Amino acid sequence: MLIETHRLILREFEPADDRWLAQILANPLVMKSSLTGPLSSADTQAKIQSFMASYAQHGFGKWAVFLKPRNELIGYCGIAVETIDNREEWELGYRLDPKFWSRGLASEAAIAALHHGFTELNLPYILGIVERANLASVRVLEKTGMQYERETTFHGVQMDVYRATNPSV
Ligand SMILES: CC(C)(COP(=O)(O)OP(=O)(O)OC[C@H]1O[C@@H](n2cnc3c(N)ncnc32)[C@H](O)[C@@H]1OP(=O)(O)O)[C@@H](O)C(=O)NCCC(=O)NCCS
Repeated sequence: MLIETHRLILREFEPADDRWLAQILANPLVMKSSLTGPLSSADTQAKIQSFMASYAQHGFGKWAVFLKPRNELIGYCGIAVETIDNREEWELGYRLDPKFWSRGLASEAAIAALHHGFTELNLPYILGIVERANLASVRVLEKTGMQYERETTFHGVQMDVYRATNPSV
């Protein structure tokens, strides 16, 4: 699996990516809107294992995002199966190193991941789930074309659900 955009490459994570991803996920800014807070190196290794389990089980998951031309690992973006309101749903999610924020990179990755989900994986729809106060993330979902659908409680936190529907299914 490889997705290439103008500035980015998205590919499946490998265990050896852990050093780079651990630096990003240890940052409290990156993990501010997360259920866990900053991750230890061991937590990040386990996260990569869970991403890889998702590739094996579903054929997709959260992918590593690399910035061309030096191919620096700048975060992750992809589609995961999440239980939302007691249903297994396809969920688009992303986290980037703050060094690379506000350059349109999360939007570029998210648009490409959603497109892949629709054209290659033939998913009928994809959801986004976000805290309303996370304005940058809300904006990224909107820029993929997702629309606000409803409020929900996710692991005890009030969140907004966004949806994009596959136009060709
Ligand atoms: C959310 C996140 C991935 C966005 O990354 P990014 O590369 O900066 O995003 P982009 O540059 O593609 O787009 C951000 C958009 O939000 C807007 N934005 C950023 N901060 C904002 C703020 N405080 N208020 C309003 N809009 C804001 C930007 O202006 C931009 O919109 P525009 O292109 O219309 O101007 C990044 O902030 C991040 O990793 N956050 C921590 C993890 C996280 O919250 N993940 C999502 C969990 S649901």
